Amino acid sequence: MARKKIAVIGAGRVGEHTVHSLAMKQLGDIVMVDIVEGKPQGIALDIMEERPLSGWDVNILGTNDYADIAGADVIVMTAGFPRKPGMSRDDLIEANMKIIKPAAENFKKYAPNAIVVVVTNPLDVICWAALEVTGFAKNKVMGMAGVLDTNRFRTFVAMEMGVSVKDVQAYVLGGHGDDMVPLVRYSNIGGIPLEEIMPKDKLDFVVQRTRKAGGEIVKHLGYSAYFSPGHSAAEMVQAILLDEKRVLPAAAYLQGEYGLEGIFLGVPILLGSNGIEKIFELNLTDAEKAALNKSAAGVKEVTGIAKNILAKM
Ligand code: NAI
Ligand code: 2OP
Repeated sequence: MARKKIAVIGAGRVGEHTVHSLAMKQLGDIVMVDIVEGKPQGIALDIMEERPLSGWDVNILGTNDYADIAGADVIVMTAGFPRKPGMSRDDLIEANMKIIKPAAENFKKYAPNAIVVVVTNPLDVICWAALEVTGFAKNKVMGMAGVLDTNRFRTFVAMEMGVSVKDVQAYVLGGHGDDMVPLVRYSNIGGIPLEEIMPKDKLDFVVQRTRKAGGEIVKHLGYSAYFSPGHSAAEMVQAILLDEKRVLPAAAYLQGEYGLEGIFLGVPILLGSNGIEKIFELNLTDAEKAALNKSAAGVKEVTGIAKNILAKM
């Protein structure tokens, strides 16, 4: 059986960590594309040279030519500007629409059967642009944010409560912005609901910290996170290529689910070899619904801006 092929677009911080994580998982051969000459080539070579130490038997090609993604099974889109201190993810829309349009045209041209996992921000809106430009089926275009946000939530709960992160289960839904919805009612420590085991002040603190976790790292570093994002994207690729049927939160195109239409938003999905194989509709309380609708309204507004930008391109 031929090896699977994974294309990672963007050899920046998130791209290189996605490639490293994918190499470690040995899911298939990897092609890394960037517009900067030498950057993907150098990173690919460096990771290739790590393989004798690590025992990873996969090939990694760095290239500036989108033709090299031909026949890719999965494409991870990480190319794009990250935010700087003081910026919101939405401030990136103008600049990153200029990147996603030609990139998505190349996905369609060279890898028409690929499943696309978008990472570029503003996440939910760039997913919409990728779907619109490629014309791929809606189950084949999705966004990585929920896996990252959920793992941040798990981390903060474990830190506050002094428990192993392995025993914390949590869920974050909604758009990948400060209005995201950490679903406390569906989160637990070792099966014990968070609301039962965690004092309210600590719970409120971890919810707020999760919402602003991306910005917290930008404040420290001056640029955005990349270890956990890269690994989260690779986790989704693994679910697809190994047909794991994982149940994960991810940005999916909604057509009536949760009463929402025509936008991408973070919801629980079943992820396997056909991409998004199911969207789970949770029974939400009025307060949870209101929080999800607030997050969706922000995504809808920026999707409208993206539509106008695309129409003029
Ligand atoms: P970075 O600046 O380190 O890397 C971006 C790379 O994209 C650069 O190497 C650049 O040369 C490349 N690039 C630009 N135009 C391109 C094109 N047309 N084709 C191929 N490559 C191109 O940025 P970083 O930190 O890797 O972030 C990348 C994106 O991921 C940003 O938009 C950031 O906001 C987003 N992000 C999303 C997360 C999520 O949870 N969804 C988490 C972390 C970052
Ligand atoms: C993050 O949440 C910036 O979206 C990126 O770290």
